[in-house]
Amino acid sequence: MDGLLSKLRSLDAYPKVNEDFYSRTLSGGIITLASSVVMLLLFVSELRLYLHAVTETTLRVDTSRGEQLRINFDVTFPALQCSIISLDAMDISGQEHLDVKHDIFKQRIDAHGNVIATRQDAVGGMKMEKPLQHHGGRLEHNETYCGSCYGAQESDDQCCNTCEDVREAYRKKGWGVSNPDLLDQCKREGFLQSIKDEEGEGCNIYGFIEVNKVAGNFHFAPGKSFQQSNVHVHDLLPFQKDSFNVSHKINKLSFGDYFPGVVNPLDGAQWVQHSSYGMYQYFIKVVPTAYTDINDHIILSNQVISFSFPLSGYTFS
Ligand SMILES: *[C@@H]1O[C@H](CO)[C@@H](O)[C@H](O)[C@H]1NC(C)=O
Ligand SMILES: *[C@@H]1O[C@H](CO)[C@@H](O)[C@H](O)[C@H]1NC(C)=O
Repeated sequence: MDGLLSKLRSLDAYPKVNEDFYSRTLSGGIITLASSVVMLLLFVSELRLYLHAVTETTLRVDTSRGEQLRINFDVTFPALQCSIISLDAMDISGQEHLDVKHDIFKQRIDAHGNVIATRQDAVGGMKMEKPLQHHGGRLEHNETYCGSCYGAQESDDQCCNTCEDVREAYRKKGWGVSNPDLLDQCKREGFLQSIKDEEGEGCNIYGFIEVNKVAGNFHFAPGKSFQQSNVHVHDLLPFQKDSFNVSHKINKLSFGDYFPGVVNPLDGAQWVQHSSYGMYQYFIKVVPTAYTDINDHIILSNQVISFSFPLSGYTFS
């Protein structure tokens, strides 16, 4: 029996070392500690890599048609008054939005960048109820005011009750307003006065516009724009200023909804004008983007794939 057990014992492939022969060394302890730390780090990093969602990109042909592209912007002009700036958008399909005002807010800012006042750049200022009095002072039965459009009215019963209405009517006709002080409405509202009051102020303009998904441009410029013999013109005369400083800073410029990982390369871009006339252009290419998250929730948006701008703005006179 003893012989059988010792035979079995002799088969042990892993003979145990007697406790007495163990000896713990300092170098052994250091190596154990170091390797444990490394193992832990490797474990954590592998686990993080495993849990991290990878964004996969696939390219597809965009077959959608006639969709709108929303442009969100927030631009600061430190040396251009709010009453002067207007925003136009136009595209190759021939669609134009001149002096866009829907969903656009302007903030007057002082020389130190503090906000003085915010206003929504509402369409056409205040709207009057249906006027009863016609041009030329002919009274019907009520003395509701109906201001003259100075020949720019589209129909006989159109009224231009505010300076803004007159300028808008002029713009639609393609006329320029050379001296707003000669227009009663503007004089009453102190149009020039308000521009003088805002002298030295800047403007922060933010909001969004929706444009067709085709090549086009949108621009901020001083003065109301209008179309004259197929040329896009900005009416600068009413401001009676010699030059405009269109230095600006783009705080935010994005296309469509936010989705994780979107890069808006023009955020933070700025330009300072050094001469008295200036213009600055950015060329941006945008592609439609569908972002699908891990819960299969799809965000339809857009992203900028390339952009460029001239190293220095060119001047014209
Ligand atoms: C003119 O009409 C307005 C409302 O339409 C009314 O409040 C006002 O009293 C009228 N004025 C006169 C003089 O009838
Ligand atoms: C335009 O305004 C910017 C910012 O206020 C300023 O730095 C720049 O010198 C101005 N340019 C001119 C030509 O006055």
